Amino acid sequence: MNILNIEKPIWFMRQAGRHLPEYRELRSKKKNFLEFCFDKNSIVEATLQPIKRYKIDCAIIFCDILIVPYVLGQSTSFIKGEGPLLESLSLEDLTNLNTLPQKEKDLQNTYKAIKEVREKLNKNKSLIGFCGGPWTVACYMINGKGDGKFKVATEKIKQEKTLLIQLLDKLVEQSVEHLYQQYVCGCDTLMIFESWAGLVPYQEYKDILIDPVNKIIKKLQLLGVSAPIILLPRGINKKIINYIEKVNMDIISVDYNIDIEWLIKNLRTDMILQGNLDPNIINKGGKELENAVNRLLKNTRDRKHIYCSGHGLLPNTPIKNVESVIEIIKN
Ligand code: CP3
Repeated sequence: MNILNIEKPIWFMRQAGRHLPEYRELRSKKKNFLEFCFDKNSIVEATLQPIKRYKIDCAIIFCDILIVPYVLGQSTSFIKGEGPLLESLSLEDLTNLNTLPQKEKDLQNTYKAIKEVREKLNKNKSLIGFCGGPWTVACYMINGKGDGKFKVATEKIKQEKTLLIQLLDKLVEQSVEHLYQQYVCGCDTLMIFESWAGLVPYQEYKDILIDPVNKIIKKLQLLGVSAPIILLPRGINKKIINYIEKVNMDIISVDYNIDIEWLIKNLRTDMILQGNLDPNIINKGGKELENAVNRLLKNTRDRKHIYCSGHGLLPNTPIKNVESVIEIIKN
């Protein structure tokens, strides 16, 4: 069932992952992350683990936004304690990459896993497929690693914008293909993580953030995809109002730096929001967490809202804190 048809949906970004002991146990059986990420049985199990543990309404397929550069043949690895590391290539070389059939075969395991998860998952729960926003994926491809600033990538906006847009166009095509396959195999809801939207200067929003994402949405519509599309433009603060006006998503995911009370007051009432619980507060728990959840419930009382964290759960988040968020919202 897609997320819009669930009455009061609740899930967490990075719900399948290191805060779960059963995930750590399963993960320890494979040496590296990509091996795990492309193993059908691991994907099925990791996707379903949070559903088995928590009373949540959505499963998000276990994958990563950086499988796109991997499939394009840019050597990609995940270093323990450091994060992703991608082969250093010039922007021109990046624009000339093409899908490698050998790597595409790995991705077939993800699609097979989606079919299996859909069969195993209760019909009343949503299955979310996802990809990274073109700009965010380009940040990792150009920079080679994630340092939070992506200086090399942001400089390209000024220095080599034409080539950058060519790369974004390539990523649009790849993202459409990947999202479409996830949809065909059983994902009823799709999400685009534009995690590094906040790095783009406002005057470049149209070319770098808005047009590429709108192209993805338009192409999916032309392919007959009816799944609602969730978009997370992380870190754009008050510019989110303008962004929402220009981008044709169905649901806007609100990060935890945005004051949702302010946003609701300043936004048209028919826009569906998701978020925006602070993962740091979920991590801390206690009275502060209780207050935060109650504040969110109060602010979203009169509208359709998808209850979710404003970004990924932190690795050391206690299980009982996640449970208490669900408990308060459900009751
Ligand atoms: O439960 C879920 O949300 C599903 C799985 C999921 C992963 N990555 C698995 C993963 C999702 C939705 C993602 C999205 C993702 N990946 C984003 C967008 C969301 C965000 O956090 O802003 C980004 C930017 C990435 C890139 C990425 N992948 C980084 C920076 C890292 C290393 C640091 C980290 O966050 O763990 C990864 C590795 C990764 N992706 C892990 C997992 C469970 C940890 C690796 C491991 O288990 O060894």
